[in-house]
Amino acid sequence: MSARVVQPAEGLVGTARLPGDKSISHRLAILGALAEGASELVNYSPGRDCRSTLDCLRALSVRIATEDADGVPKVSVEGRGLGGLEAPAGELDAGNSGSTLRMLAGVLAAHPFESVLTGDASLRRRPMRRVIEPLERMGAALEARAGEFPPLRIRGPAGAGLRPIDYVLPVASAQVKTAVLLAGLHAPGTTSVEEPARTRDHTEIALGAFGASVTRERRRVAVHGQTRLRGGRFVIPNDLSAAAFFLVAGLVLPKSNLVLPQVGLNPTRAALLDFLLPQGAQIKVLDVETQQGELRGNLHVRAGNKLKGGVVAGALTAKLIDELPVLAVLGTQTEEGLRLRDAAELRVKESDRLHAIAENLRRLGARVEEHPDGLDIPGRQRLRGARVESFGDHRIAMAMAVAGLVAEGETTIEDADCADVSFPGFFEVMEALRE
Ligand code: S3P
Repeated sequence: MSARVVQPAEGLVGTARLPGDKSISHRLAILGALAEGASELVNYSPGRDCRSTLDCLRALSVRIATEDADGVPKVSVEGRGLGGLEAPAGELDAGNSGSTLRMLAGVLAAHPFESVLTGDASLRRRPMRRVIEPLERMGAALEARAGEFPPLRIRGPAGAGLRPIDYVLPVASAQVKTAVLLAGLHAPGTTSVEEPARTRDHTEIALGAFGASVTRERRRVAVHGQTRLRGGRFVIPNDLSAAAFFLVAGLVLPKSNLVLPQVGLNPTRAALLDFLLPQGAQIKVLDVETQQGELRGNLHVRAGNKLKGGVVAGALTAKLIDELPVLAVLGTQTEEGLRLRDAAELRVKESDRLHAIAENLRRLGARVEEHPDGLDIPGRQRLRGARVESFGDHRIAMAMAVAGLVAEGETTIEDADCADVSFPGFFEVMEALRE
């Protein structure tokens, strides 16, 4: 658990080296394992979370090789076909990764052996009823501590297998949607999921790319089960949620001129741009193209006038969920500040992010009002360097690094190495861009 010290900066200049998209990496590794034939995943996320997914798949008898192709991580997966995973010898450790645990729960619910999914102290506090409930309806048996928390013990039905269901998600969660669709892939007939607000659609896109039959009608997505998946080659875009830290730093530090290359711009993920561009943010989106259904492009970012700030609520909150910690830091530097609502989900992420943000910004001298489902952050605030906590949460550590660049004086982030959950080398990349 080592601390990082961040000095103020006048700008970030140059091209940022960014990790592959974490959400897409998890999905492609899992679908590669369920496919027939081999898959090659270029620019697979080097983060610890995505390694947890590979380790769990290996423990389920999937052969996986990783290599470094001129600095670009490449993962090769030998598919075992639908229903082809084998019982693991011990517990499956998802580490800090909610995506790994919830998505694999959907796959394991379709396998007639017992498996146990667990994780680190943070993951063992996160709610799992949301996956248990639909997977039990499909015919799997699941047990959790107090009916809610990992370790999660799972056994799929023997014999006829899972039943398809039509499921209405109580919370907008792409992880839960994915768990149900992955289970549905193994069931006969059609399994559908209706979402209260549209969430990231990487699963739907990846399922289509592997040859599954997926349809969408407004907020309802359906998969036709028991169709064979075919492995393939995928080039994963860089992670917009990782780029977001530099994007915000670039917008608020006056001498910035940044290129964020090959960033994923899937419209269900790019709400950050939809939110910032109308406020006059100097972001150019260039060289846009689609590969395997996923949009990507180069972002050029410059500092300009102060941004206006505004309200993030309702469906926008769900779309911006992973960018909210760094947007809160941005909020302090806007004209009107940031009013965040409908964000109670932030309390059950890798940390209670509403509390973590409020506590840390206050330590940096900012005024923040915390609400059960959001924050009020006035604009035009001066931040003063201080000692802040990561709360063991990668996005809090990185958001506080951006605050440290903006603040006057030195900022120390305790337990900052957790940034490598999604972005190994984050602090080195930041220092290399310092003007
Ligand atoms: C993710 C979905 C979101 C997000 C997480 C990644 C995904 O979680 O916060 O970082 O890849 O599906 P929820 O599904 O819990 O909202």
